[in-house]
Amino acid sequence: MKYRMYDLIEKKKHKIPLTEDEIREMITAYTAGDIPDYQMSAFLMAVWFQGMTDEELSCLTLAMAASGEELSLAQIPGTKLDKHSTGGVGDKTTLIVAPVLAALQVPTAKMSGRGLGFTGGTVDKLESIPGLRSELSEEEFLRILNRVGFVDAAQTKELAPADKLLYALRDVTATVDSIPLIASSIMSKKLAAGADRIVLDVKCGSGAFMSELSSAKELAGQMIRIGEMTGRAVTAVISDMNQPLGRAVGNALEVQEAVEVLKGGGEPRLVELSVRIAVEMLQMSDQARDSREAAVEAVTEVMQNGSALDRFRAYVKEAGGDPSALDRVGVETAFRKEIRAPRAGYLTACNTGEVGLVSVMLGAGRSRKDEAIDPEAGILVKKKLGESVSEGEVLAELFTNREGVLEDAEDRFLRAYSIDAEPPEDTPIIYDILRSR
Ligand code: URA
Repeated sequence: MKYRMYDLIEKKKHKIPLTEDEIREMITAYTAGDIPDYQMSAFLMAVWFQGMTDEELSCLTLAMAASGEELSLAQIPGTKLDKHSTGGVGDKTTLIVAPVLAALQVPTAKMSGRGLGFTGGTVDKLESIPGLRSELSEEEFLRILNRVGFVDAAQTKELAPADKLLYALRDVTATVDSIPLIASSIMSKKLAAGADRIVLDVKCGSGAFMSELSSAKELAGQMIRIGEMTGRAVTAVISDMNQPLGRAVGNALEVQEAVEVLKGGGEPRLVELSVRIAVEMLQMSDQARDSREAAVEAVTEVMQNGSALDRFRAYVKEAGGDPSALDRVGVETAFRKEIRAPRAGYLTACNTGEVGLVSVMLGAGRSRKDEAIDPEAGILVKKKLGESVSEGEVLAELFTNREGVLEDAEDRFLRAYSIDAEPPEDTPIIYDILRSR
């Protein structure tokens, strides 16, 4: 590299903006293994403290996006949309929204991640369907997108490798929770995957990276600005993650809950968020309706007349899976347990990250990147925040194939919820929607 990494760290430490060339050189050299992790760690920590200017942010994002292969969606006619969630517990909205848009002739090309820590990943949810493959070649990706109208594949190793390396380093240097680093990480993958317009579901609450609304808005704002500077229209829906989304946490259970919504049913907050995200995407597409009301009507119609579910079935088939899995109800595990309320009252708060970790204990998630997951394991939440419960009433049901974990899982689940005499204030599922200019 033509710069000394020491000098770049020194500049960032004193909040002197780096130039485009310096950032590009640094990312190229780091991806090639020419900058040691200890220097990059120091740089990341300096960013954690000093932040980044908008110009630095867009240069960093573009450099990371260009660090590997970029997917060409040019052969697909029309505007391509992408949707991304910043990560949550029980978030199966992609499984609902992508088939809905396909049914409305809006192509959605998506690369998703696997679950890590307390957050689930769409790829794991899809792979709970027997036979379904998410590791697709570019040719398969484009073929399925053409035939079905949406595709949701695992992120390839070649996509934004700089982000992969930097994320792993951030994970062990306490620098994951830096807003510019999260914003550039997410947006670099969106740019490399080639979508024209992007809807971001920025989660906010006890089960999200951002627990405060102000920081969720800041993250959304930075991603929108990156979009503006790189020519992508971005809409950010800031949504609540102070309790699991819907009722299911765990892979096969979440697919079943998505199917329920695609049949016109489902838990109201999950339905509201899914419809809203689908409407935002529809209105950004070439098929935009004349009014928001007409868009809501179109989205609701394909959820009720079976055409969105039909797209989901087509996707499962094209990706090698067994479509009859979409007709399943319930999971088969060796052990299950109902969790009962220890006292009467109202459910007032939930430590959602802890509920996510309970699902990991049951086998539904992974605490290490290489860990296998159990598609059947999970939680069905029977009560939502604000509901009253009587003593001994069932709050949730746990499912696992792991012997000897249910007692600890139950304790942990109960500690995650607060039961009080007074009901809590209502929390909206959507806090705000921010759009690029
Ligand atoms: N998701 C990402 O892809 N990157 C982050 O930094 C955080 C969440």
